[in-house]
Amino acid sequence: MKLFDVYPLFDITPVKAQDVYVFDEKGTQYLDLYGGHAVISIGHSHPEYVKKVSEQLNNIGFYSNSIQNPLQVELALTLGKLSKCEEYQLFLCNSGAEANENALKLASFHTNKKKIIAFKNSFHGRTSAAVATTDNSKIVAPLNAQQAVEFINLGDLVSVEKALVKNDVCAVIVEIIQGIGGLYESTAEFYQGLSKLCKKYNSILIADEVQSGFGRTGDFFAFQKHNIMPDIISMAKGMGNGFPIGGILIHPTIKASLGLLGSTFGGNHLACAASLAVLNVLESQDLMQNVKDVSEYFIEKAQLLSKVNAVKGRGLMLGLEFDFNVSELRKRLVFKHHIFTGSAKNLNLLRILPPLTVQKHHIDLFFEALKQELL
Ligand SMILES: Cc1ncc(COP(=O)(O)O)c(C=O)c1O
Repeated sequence: MKLFDVYPLFDITPVKAQDVYVFDEKGTQYLDLYGGHAVISIGHSHPEYVKKVSEQLNNIGFYSNSIQNPLQVELALTLGKLSKCEEYQLFLCNSGAEANENALKLASFHTNKKKIIAFKNSFHGRTSAAVATTDNSKIVAPLNAQQAVEFINLGDLVSVEKALVKNDVCAVIVEIIQGIGGLYESTAEFYQGLSKLCKKYNSILIADEVQSGFGRTGDFFAFQKHNIMPDIISMAKGMGNGFPIGGILIHPTIKASLGLLGSTFGGNHLACAASLAVLNVLESQDLMQNVKDVSEYFIEKAQLLSKVNAVKGRGLMLGLEFDFNVSELRKRLVFKHHIFTGSAKNLNLLRILPPLTVQKHHIDLFFEALKQELL
């Protein structure tokens, strides 16, 4: 049987990984400034993570959501405390798309409306409603296009209100910092205005923190910088440090009822153990402070490079914008200098999404390589 050929692949085969490094089958070491697309939060194969997941597997790896699972309760408590979102309720699933799909569905149940407002350049995943709110017609099948979605420019509150006033919008979904779209972020006034408008017109504000959450920006969630409280917050990527887990945090104004949402694998024992290990390490190693320190260092160094047109993003969700397509540069970084970086919809943007354990000396290695390539 052949694989369904949907992924453009680098010809590299990682077989081992540790902290910010991955190793291929020949033992070549690569510096991972991509984190498997912002997934690796506490570093590859962190000893505490390996221990907790292995111990859990030796006890019980999975049972369905028809029994008591104290690990889910522990995860909700620990996550609430560390994210300062204690009053929210937690629903667990398996991926970012599934988190957004459930968020949108819940918004529709709650408001009894069905139109969605999303923003230009957005990416929310590939399931039905999530992909319909993604601004990329190439990945929206006719089946998905049946959802009623209006795309508005990020920052345009006037158009948002024009759409909301018709009173048929169940949800406004927004990445506070657009990931794949190219690291665009609007102002606190915009996000606060969005929150007020959603309340005024009884629509649910969904903050998609799938990429930006779990400490990646130096705050637990990116929206916290703007002093808002979304109705639903979706999470995945860094939540399991590679173990597939996603979830939504739901404001107490939205009530649960038995059977409303569900998932076979969501919140299984192994996934909870993985996410608890992530939270423990985030706190014990003070990784959000590390994110701030290393980010500042990176930005200072980037600003010294005349060939960099703009430094985008914040925390360790960063990008360097050039006046040329970066695809060849990325190839040279990975094959010549053994450094993984990321791309974006904006072809001139080189993205940096390392494990949150990355240190300044790793950033030095990157800039030395970059300088050689930009000569
Ligand atoms: C902001 C955002 N939302 C949702 C998703 C979808 O997540 P997943 O691939 O886990 O379904 C992604 C993935 O890149 C993302 O960046």
